[in-house]
Amino acid sequence: MTQRIKKVVFPVAGLGTRFLPATKASPKEMLPVVDKPLIQYAVEEAVAAGAETLVFVTGRTKRAIEDHFDKAYELEMELEAKGKHAMLELVRNTVPSGVNCIYIRQGEALGLGHAVLCARPIVGNDPFGVILADDLIDGNGEQVMSQMAREFTEHGCSLLGVEQVPPEETNKYGVVSTGDFNHALSRVTGIVEKPEPDEAPSNLAVVGRYILSPRIFQLLEHTAPDARGEVQLTDAIARLLDYETVLAHEFRGVRYDCGSKLGYLKATVEYGLKHPELGPEFAAYLRHYHNAD
Ligand code: G1P
Repeated sequence: MTQRIKKVVFPVAGLGTRFLPATKASPKEMLPVVDKPLIQYAVEEAVAAGAETLVFVTGRTKRAIEDHFDKAYELEMELEAKGKHAMLELVRNTVPSGVNCIYIRQGEALGLGHAVLCARPIVGNDPFGVILADDLIDGNGEQVMSQMAREFTEHGCSLLGVEQVPPEETNKYGVVSTGDFNHALSRVTGIVEKPEPDEAPSNLAVVGRYILSPRIFQLLEHTAPDARGEVQLTDAIARLLDYETVLAHEFRGVRYDCGSKLGYLKATVEYGLKHPELGPEFAAYLRHYHNAD
């Protein structure tokens, strides 16, 4: 049987404290990179990979996300009346027709693992994707979730999107140890959350892309919170290894850590330079700015 990933979960209940005060009343996932909010890049990546049901695990101040993917009657009527058809299409197509958006509230901020567990009533017994919108990845032609969905169809097991990070940064990520699988993938043999560099099993870090078997829900249910009171997805994945094969996919593409201000600024500059309308003018501005320095 060929398995496809039809459901993707977006944990969007984080407080976004690193971007305060910008995130005081609106979610960090609504921060725009040039002209699209981070969550829209994530949704487009999921839809391109074949997702038909998008599950947003939301929290306080996240209403803007629901509104963004909803119909905007007044705005659409106004754009239509003014004959602004191109803009109307942009507003209408934040999510394609036929794709369902479902919102679940994560009542308490109990960590990424708990957020994923909140999606269980919708995901049920199907394998599913998880995208963390603040890891914005330019897949250079094929987006990372599509790359991973293809591997999933072939191998039918859980997959983690990984990349090499500087050794001194292992304490910001889930870090895996791996063994051989095939030329493109490796088998995950261990995973730990945010190890200090001298304790990290490697510098291969999990970034915000996962394809998970539904067994993860049973394991999450029995995963105790860590010292900070958070249920870690990483801890449940570590236990999944006792039952199933988990593969690490070193993706092709460039990742921007938009959970940090510097990563967000880099994404803004690079997406600005690639923007079809703005790119050339922005590039000229940057050259001028650099020379004037
Ligand atoms: C979360 C995960 C971590 C993963 C990271 C990717 O951490 O817990 O394992 O490597 O996302 O961005 P957070 O960035 O939420 O602290």
